[in-house]
Amino acid sequence: NKVVLAYSGGLDTSAIIPYLKEQYDCEVIAFVADVGQEAAELEGVEEKALASGASSCYVVDLKEEFVADYINPILKTGALYEGTYLLGTAMARPIIAKAQVELALKLGADAVSHGCTGKGNDQVRFESTYAALAPQLQVIAPWRDWTMKSRTDLLNYLASKNIPTTASAEKIYSRDANCWHISHEGGELEDPNCEPSDQVWTWTVSPEQAPETPDYVTLGFEQGVLTSVNEQSFSPYQALLTLNELGAKHGVGRIDIVENRLVGMKSRGCYETPGGTIVNAALRGLETLVLDKSAFKLREQLGLEFSHVLYDGRWFTPVSKALLAAATSLAETLTGTIVVKLYKGQAVVVKRASANSLYSEAFSTFEEDEVYNQKHAEGFIRLFSLSSRIAALHKQGY
Ligand code: ARG
Ligand code: SIN
Repeated sequence: NKVVLAYSGGLDTSAIIPYLKEQYDCEVIAFVADVGQEAAELEGVEEKALASGASSCYVVDLKEEFVADYINPILKTGALYEGTYLLGTAMARPIIAKAQVELALKLGADAVSHGCTGKGNDQVRFESTYAALAPQLQVIAPWRDWTMKSRTDLLNYLASKNIPTTASAEKIYSRDANCWHISHEGGELEDPNCEPSDQVWTWTVSPEQAPETPDYVTLGFEQGVLTSVNEQSFSPYQALLTLNELGAKHGVGRIDIVENRLVGMKSRGCYETPGGTIVNAALRGLETLVLDKSAFKLREQLGLEFSHVLYDGRWFTPVSKALLAAATSLAETLTGTIVVKLYKGQAVVVKRASANSLYSEAFSTFEEDEVYNQKHAEGFIRLFSLSSRIAALHKQGY
């Protein structure tokens, strides 16, 4: 009996290893996805897994694939969950669960396991991916089975098994990090009427403490994909890292929201998405130059639709594929250069240029022009509003 566990080195998944061995009399293989979370989280993770009783530990580098095949296509849809959340955790779950399944199949495992609670979105995202890719694998979700309820319970359990841990009962926040974002939930945040303390934020400086002088950053896009920062070409992952550094320095990308979870309850969370906020602002700015009115509206609709598909863990579905294909098609002309000003928590587009720009000064100018006959507007408005005219005349008894 073999189980592949999505392992992070944190308290929950450390306790799951001995639990699985005990309950299922199985071999536990730890799987760690490197999606660009803090280096400290990955350091010594293999030793930790083995010390907890795993028979082996596989760390898989998914960073470039995560940015190139997940983040960048998603960005083209413009998805923002409930208008604000850049979906950092939701983006990472499908690639993590997919790599976990691949390992499980390679090793001939019978089951996969994860450390998500039974109350959140992540369990749905992991298990929907398992279902779509390898329905034959058994799924074990210890948080829905065992009787332990708190961090203290987990610490006591590990102590009873003589398993060393650096975790403590004081860690009050539930965090999830990758190269796109870090999320914070729990602790004082569970009261939506309580302002987050400084302990919540771990990545960006506060806007109050950000530099007094702005930075300007130039983003180059090709067909909707970020390819250069300040005129230097980068791999997808390296480009994001460069923007993360700038964004974090200027306090860019913090949000504090109450959101609707898929499983029914609301939750309050704080998120830091420094580079992502910059690249999203820039790409949206490029769209304003290149997409016509109806293309823009369709892109907005795709974004709304896709935000739910992704949030709800439905990446490996036909509807997800179709929406991404549509967004990729709309992004074909999104080639150009955007300058973003970073200052005190804000990322503001201040310059836009594209060879595909539909912006025409000759047409738009408030000065005299030679291309637009204002007389044409009269007939257009007459017909555009004809139905209103007919209805109003009807009301007046004509
Ligand atoms: N609420 C966010 C989401 O559903 C973040 C979840 C964070 N997950 C975690 N395991 N701490 O996408
Ligand atoms: C969890 O419940 O494991 C984290 C929060 C979430 O999945 O929404």
